[in-house]
Amino acid sequence: MQFTISNKDKNSNARAGELTTEHGNIKTPIFMPVGTAGSVKAVHQRELKEDIQAQIILGNTYHLYLRPGLDVLQKAGGLHKFNGWEKPILTDSGGYQVYSLSGTRKIKEEGVTFKSHIDGSSHIFSPEGVMDIQRKIGADIIMAFDECTPYPCDYEYARKSMDMTHRWLDRCIQQFDTTEGHYGYEQSLFPIVQGSTYKDLRKRSAEEIASKDRAGNAIGGLSVGEPAEDMYEMTELVCDILPQDKPRYLMGVGTPANILECIALGVDMFDCVMPTRNARNGMLFTTEGIINIKNKKWEDDFSPIDPTLGTYVDTFYTKAYLRHLIHSKEILGAQIASIHNLTFYLWLVEQAREQITSGTFYEWKEKMVKKLMTRL
Ligand code: GUN
Repeated sequence: MQFTISNKDKNSNARAGELTTEHGNIKTPIFMPVGTAGSVKAVHQRELKEDIQAQIILGNTYHLYLRPGLDVLQKAGGLHKFNGWEKPILTDSGGYQVYSLSGTRKIKEEGVTFKSHIDGSSHIFSPEGVMDIQRKIGADIIMAFDECTPYPCDYEYARKSMDMTHRWLDRCIQQFDTTEGHYGYEQSLFPIVQGSTYKDLRKRSAEEIASKDRAGNAIGGLSVGEPAEDMYEMTELVCDILPQDKPRYLMGVGTPANILECIALGVDMFDCVMPTRNARNGMLFTTEGIINIKNKKWEDDFSPIDPTLGTYVDTFYTKAYLRHLIHSKEILGAQIASIHNLTFYLWLVEQAREQITSGTFYEWKEKMVKKLMTRL
């Protein structure tokens, strides 16, 4: 995997670049739609590719391992073949889902024992096991097995957890570097910085992760309930330490404003369930601001959803019709709103990229952050 930076912003740490994988190139900064169980909820692959113009999507080790399971994925020839998405895929390691989804879990040095949220069966995720699982799923970018600490988290817990995440990383690297992919293309392993909201821990973690010299690096343990200012402070501190010439991925972030602020701090890759999850509840992110489509205000607004975006759903369907669909819990409502929100997120990072390239990113970002968070 290669990463080349084409432009750097003069007034911030924003950069525009390109990541090369065997399933295609990814222009950065990029937003990666979340396809937890191998599907971006309510969105066809064709819409993802042609309307939304997604360049890479996410899958989750935890979900895919439990269902459909590795036998089916291997028989299919890997996740790309199974779900028909021919472009790059990144899988998260389960180091987050296992904590957020599985009710009973035990974290030990060896790994995490947990019960499936589907049928209550017991499983163990170890750093080595999670590397093997992600090899079998076959994503282009795979994530190290980590512990994402909750917020708030006391210092001693955060320190011990971070140290264990670092020891787990060494085991991940050992396993990853002594095994091969199953499907003939290259996979890259990204380590994850932890350290909660403690500056000294974040600094130590970023130095440790940087020293591993992998193809890209991730920042985890943020957007877990801490104030946005803390998230920005930690991201800035970590970005200053992580290598300049490698892509930086901020996990699970965030709102459109969060994304623009963190691009300014030097982040290249983002993922978040917000555009799809909020879409299903009627929250639309638009080029003019945020719309709660359930509000009475939109009942007889027959204007198109967001004509600036120019996609089929944004120009063809009206706000009033989408409001009706969401109120009636029609499946089509979730489809239209999800396609719209993802199109908006991909439009936003593309705009950011263009502004970085033309040297006007910082001023543009300041204006956009205010506009995008306006409630219409
Ligand atoms: N997704 C959001 N945050 C995290 C994190 O800290 N670790 C992992 N593995 N995934 C995440």
